[in-house]
Amino acid sequence: MSLFDTMLKDNESLFKNDIALDFSFQPKLIKYRENEQRQIAACIAPLFQKRNGKNILVHSPPGFGKTLAVKHIFQEIEEEQEGVAPIYINCWQKNTSFKIIIEICEQMGYKFTQNKKTEELWKIIQQQLNKSAVAFAFDEIDKLEEFDILYALLEEIYRKSIIFISNYKEWYGQLDERLRSRMILDLLEFKPYNETEITGILEERKNFAFYDNVVEQDAFAAIVQKTLQTKDIRTGLHLLKEAGNIAELQSSRKITKEDAEKAIIKLDALSIKQDLPLEEEDKALLELIKNNNGEKIGELFKKFNDAGHATAYKTFQRKIVKLEDAKFITTKKITGGLEGSTTIVQYHSVKKLTEF
Ligand SMILES: Nc1ncnc2c1ncn2[C@@H]1O[C@H](COP(=O)(O)OP(=O)(O)OP(=O)(O)O)[C@@H](O)[C@H]1O
Ligand SMILES: [Mg+2]
Repeated sequence: MSLFDTMLKDNESLFKNDIALDFSFQPKLIKYRENEQRQIAACIAPLFQKRNGKNILVHSPPGFGKTLAVKHIFQEIEEEQEGVAPIYINCWQKNTSFKIIIEICEQMGYKFTQNKKTEELWKIIQQQLNKSAVAFAFDEIDKLEEFDILYALLEEIYRKSIIFISNYKEWYGQLDERLRSRMILDLLEFKPYNETEITGILEERKNFAFYDNVVEQDAFAAIVQKTLQTKDIRTGLHLLKEAGNIAELQSSRKITKEDAEKAIIKLDALSIKQDLPLEEEDKALLELIKNNNGEKIGELFKKFNDAGHATAYKTFQRKIVKLEDAKFITTKKITGGLEGSTTIVQYHSVKKLTEF
């Protein structure tokens, strides 16, 4: 065998289908979450018997399969069940009543939303939704900024089930008493996957993504171990892709343990969270923070407004929290300075996983 046979040629790739390693890729079968899915489905099931459904808060740290499990159930309703309309909304992107109502209109195929006020649109979709039963999923519910939409749903939609999804089970406890009393809620915690489960999930994605025998056993084992540490499946998906890229760069026909280890070292410098797009205003704010790294929060607020983004301070603070949650920035409280205490805002120079 010549030396070149062991090397990847220019037009060759180790990846059969790298989309399978995307965080948003949806495998047809979801393993290890049957019980959780059954429990969620049980909240929706009464709707098919013309009764009212139940509400449930699904919670866990990131990357435990919550979004995947719920989306899968909703697809099944869409494809196979009549009489229940499934509506899935991500509150990171749709965080106000107006945005949510527009999104519901869109999902229901109602196009005449222009120049209509929130109230008017709500009346239209309320009528429409009440023609059948509705299963709602509100993902990232802790990112919701206005609560009147929840009141409206709870009070004015008759046959429904609401699935809330969050990293924080405390979200419910912080709600207004009036809202809580209208919303009897089951709780469902997604527990971390164990080693066998992580292996099973990553094995399947690996087989979708790479040609046979490309990933060496010990490379795969190292990636499983790292994922077991973070408990977030996205870690494993990212490492598989990154190790593949590293191997390809060297024109190697195999992904070795060394490649996996290099990917792991790079990962330690990264932060992992959602693959969620930021709104235009958030992007503008992030840019401002980047250009004024280490600035005081009050100064940033002034500059943000001067740049033409008229916002209340409270809204501005929420934007800061959102960027910090997503690990784009960090904040540090300084107490006892000349001007009393203040918060310093710092741009995160490390890359997010999703920027790759
Ligand atoms: N049981 C599973 N089978 C196959 N893939 C899975 C499974 N669980 C999670 N994944 C994959 O792991 C990634 C993260 O899953 P998901 O987005 O559902 O997590 P999450 O719990 O919603 O996280 P977050 O709280 O950050 O939103 C996705 O790419 C998903 O496809
Ligand atoms: Mg999710």
